[in-house]
Amino acid sequence: MPATPFFIPAKHAPTRKRGAVVDVFCGAGGLSHGFLLEGFDVRAGIDIDSACRHAYECNNGARYIEKDVADVRGEEVSALFAEGQPRILVGCAPCQPFSSYSRKGSQKHPDAKWKLLGEFGRLVKEVQPDIVSMENVPRLANFHGGELLKAFLCGLQKAGYAVWSQVVDCAAYGVPQTRLRLVVLASRVGAIELVPPTHKCDRYRTVRDAIAGLPPISAGEAAQDDPLHRASRLSAVNLARIRAARPGQTWRDWDPRLVAKCHQKSTGRWYQSVYGRMSWDAPAPTITTQCNGFGNGRFGHPEQNRAISLREAALLQTFPRSYEFFQPDERWFVSAAARCIGNAVPVALGRAVAQSVARTLNGGRGV
Ligand SMILES: C[S@@+](CC[C@H](N)C(=O)[O-])C[C@H]1O[C@@H](n2cnc3c(N)ncnc32)[C@H](O)[C@@H]1O
Repeated sequence: MPATPFFIPAKHAPTRKRGAVVDVFCGAGGLSHGFLLEGFDVRAGIDIDSACRHAYECNNGARYIEKDVADVRGEEVSALFAEGQPRILVGCAPCQPFSSYSRKGSQKHPDAKWKLLGEFGRLVKEVQPDIVSMENVPRLANFHGGELLKAFLCGLQKAGYAVWSQVVDCAAYGVPQTRLRLVVLASRVGAIELVPPTHKCDRYRTVRDAIAGLPPISAGEAAQDDPLHRASRLSAVNLARIRAARPGQTWRDWDPRLVAKCHQKSTGRWYQSVYGRMSWDAPAPTITTQCNGFGNGRFGHPEQNRAISLREAALLQTFPRSYEFFQPDERWFVSAAARCIGNAVPVALGRAVAQSVARTLNGGRGV
């Protein structure tokens, strides 16, 4: 595996090392950052997307290995762990066809999109880490009548792991989003489960809590001091639509002349949440890789006439305000930034997973 130059900025150097983490499908590092903030030694991330490299390395002080996971061997991963530390292997396989699989055209095969989960299972078998964590979309639990997930979990049990798995509401862990995710935790060093929720439903963090402090910008504009606080341009008709949009309402409440043709057909009536505005005092909808587009979901800003900016999306994903996604002089693409941000495990959920791991390593006691 080629060595990647990297450095550990002092602010990220872990003072107490609770265990070493290798993150497979690491993306821009949402999950890794949760582990870093909880005092783990994040050793490396593996991902195929070159756009995530800077964010991963710069904010986590860890190596970014740009490689297709299907080509990664267990011994390469084992070599990334430090001697004498508990070994934690985490991985959030993508739920859409991507990379080599899509390039080879195998996305036409209905099972292709879950193949990477199998690659992660293979790495677990080869590496035999002390603790494993996996996060994915809840629909993984229903794929093939639940057989795929069952096979993954049974594989872990047969290999001697205690396994915990549940669909989790990220809002209950301080993420200002209505985001449900399937979390799997597995341990060979004692029982494991996710730490209890930190937020009751009447105290969920809201859009206001996350983004109210940012300077106002217009559609198509970027803030001078933060290139990521940039909102997509809107066409004249979309500007008219967002002016008509009110938080909590849908396009059904607009003047019919503004309603898109596709929504006027009976087949389009299901897409109620597109062209919507977020509400200040509720969690945001699930932030996706398309979250910078007003027409892609309820991604309108609560009061400014634009979609949310990339920085706002990152804050709703609980990335710290200082999280750097690109080098100051780097040429980057909005679509790549939206992909890195929307794909991420929210950092706050990553912290909850890391706390759960720490608790197990501590013999089940508080951390
Ligand atoms: C759900 S995202 C992971 C997000 C990440 N855990 C985080 O918290 O930011 C899935 C990642 O898998 C990566 N990926 C897709 N196919 C891959 C492959 N064949 N090998 C390695 N990485 C791949 C994508 O680039 C994407 O970053």
